[in-house]
Amino acid sequence: MKVTVVDHPLIQHKLALLRDERTGSKDFRELMAEVSMLMAYEAMRDLELEEITVKTPVAYARAYTLSGKKLALVAVLRAGLVMVEGIVRLVPAAKVGHIGLYRDPESLAPVEYYAKLPQDIHERRVFLTDPMLATGGSAARALQILKDKGATSIKLMSILAAPEGIERVQREHPDVEIVTAAVDERLNEKGYIVPGLGDAGDRIYGTK
Ligand code: URA
Repeated sequence: MKVTVVDHPLIQHKLALLRDERTGSKDFRELMAEVSMLMAYEAMRDLELEEITVKTPVAYARAYTLSGKKLALVAVLRAGLVMVEGIVRLVPAAKVGHIGLYRDPESLAPVEYYAKLPQDIHERRVFLTDPMLATGGSAARALQILKDKGATSIKLMSILAAPEGIERVQREHPDVEIVTAAVDERLNEKGYIVPGLGDAGDRIYGTK
């Protein structure tokens, strides 16, 4: 499935600020939420519409409202949370789920420690938020958790993606479209995206 790079000037400008190591937690959080909201505008371009008639103060107008499958936003904890905060402002009726993963110290494989998802997830269009698509390990695992619960229509939204992560998600989940603001060069030996923006969770929450 394709990779959509949403490179609108507003997103590029905000991404430059996100990358800058001088940007503090408060601004970083707000920028992450704003970029996510702008990305969602493009990720949701193919939502279905139905035609309705509304009465304006002047006349009857043909208008369009969202129809089709309802939406679910699912955050990969913890950095995906702030993305959902931005997107849910655009689609307040969406249900929100959470997936928590930790890395097994021996196998290095992502292990689920928490998953709370809307019960009717199988009937919804799902937007999974994981801001840094690095090795792709956690995104691929989170996608599998969603599919095991019956989700069939999923888009992965990542602020930044590395070629390695894209390749893994495309190999393991060829049905999932990846929506990102930029594809960076590579991963370094610690698994960080280069040039990237550092550890997204630490920068959001001021931890280190
Ligand atoms: N997770 C992050 O927060 N940053 C990276 O560069 C890679 C994974």
